[in-house]
Amino acid sequence: MFKCVLLYVNLFLILAPYVSMADYNRTTLGYPAGLMSICPGSTKPATIPKSQLKYLSFVVQGNGRSRYKYSYWNAKNIANDPRINFKRKTLLVAIGYLDSPNLPISAMFANEYEDRGYNVILVDNQRFATVHYHLATRLMRPVGKHVAEVLAQLTQYGLDPSTLEILGFSLGCHTAGFIAKHFQTFTGRNISSITALEPSGPCFRYLGPKDRLDASDADFVQVIHTNIDGYGMATPMGHVDIYVNGGEYQPSDISIYPCTTTCSHFRILPIWISALKNPRKFIAMKCRDIQQARDAQCYGNVPLETIVMGLGIDRRKRGIFYLATTMEYPFYLGTKGLKEEYVYWKRMTNINSGNETEIYT
Ligand SMILES: *[C@@H]1O[C@H](CO)[C@@H](O)[C@H](O)[C@H]1NC(C)=O
Ligand SMILES: *[C@@H]1O[C@H](CO)[C@@H](O)[C@H](O)[C@H]1NC(C)=O
Ligand SMILES: *[C@@H]1O[C@H](CO)[C@@H](O)[C@H](O)[C@H]1NC(C)=O
Repeated sequence: MFKCVLLYVNLFLILAPYVSMADYNRTTLGYPAGLMSICPGSTKPATIPKSQLKYLSFVVQGNGRSRYKYSYWNAKNIANDPRINFKRKTLLVAIGYLDSPNLPISAMFANEYEDRGYNVILVDNQRFATVHYHLATRLMRPVGKHVAEVLAQLTQYGLDPSTLEILGFSLGCHTAGFIAKHFQTFTGRNISSITALEPSGPCFRYLGPKDRLDASDADFVQVIHTNIDGYGMATPMGHVDIYVNGGEYQPSDISIYPCTTTCSHFRILPIWISALKNPRKFIAMKCRDIQQARDAQCYGNVPLETIVMGLGIDRRKRGIFYLATTMEYPFYLGTKGLKEEYVYWKRMTNINSGNETEIYT
């Protein structure tokens, strides 16, 4: 993961951020517009030639961490894999930019879900996610289509869409959206749920629901935001959108070194692992709009509506939610998180509330 983080940092330092303020609307989009808002040409149609489809593969994990890899061409055999039992729930993992099922992020999630009794299938589209970021965002569309073909085929061998969930991180959230949209086209059915961890904002900020993840993609879409102006995206894209500590900037446990973009973007990973391990502890409160969530001003809302983030989330709820966390693992505040005195943001603003200045030398 460290190498992956470095690549991320380098890439975004080299590419000058292009922030458009043209469609600026503080109420509906949140302020400001964010990193790499528009990537010209990124919605041009893209296809993957047949000869390249061998690079799209599926890693099945089960039976105590055992793994087996199928290519796109023989993926229907997944149905006969001894690690798979379609009477259980199935998790499909959509990897992020520059990621691979062999790197620690996917393995971490695969293990957690396997331990919870899921069939786990990791989409290995590394080949298509390890090109220039702008091109990768385009390639995720045909990747989504071909993954959906495989899933549609598996429904003929016992996979029930109502037990199928997709987990995506960053760029993988939009891949999940493309998979789900094509799955609807092929089968007329919905995937049960998508959990979108920090959907990536660069190149997607101004795109409409057809060109990115959207609530209409599945029966239930849960989205969690941790860096909305940087690598993430402010726009609500799910039935429920949770803005962690306002969604933009996560608390750091090192006092003078803030948790800026990369740190805040990746913070979602240990938060979701903690939410899996502590299923009732991440309690978020409903906000009127994104700006209210960003400003941590949802405490006074009457009536106070709450939601518990995680696998057991109440799928009937809708809207925008604010979640307060602590600075370090396991992050949760439980019901304390509903009280304003625990808001991390308050302590940040208090730094400048007095007249003293502390000089570090
Ligand atoms: C922003 O959007 C809101 C809600 O659609 C609308 O009421 C408001 O007029 C818009 N503001 C600007 C500056 O366009
Ligand atoms: C699929 O999910 C969307 C969004 O939740 C919903 O509007 C639509 O009716 C669902 N379609 C089917 C066929 O269930
Ligand atoms: C800050 O300085 C102003 C002007 O000197 C003074 O009126 C105010 O009381 C001070 N505030 C605090 C918190 O010390």
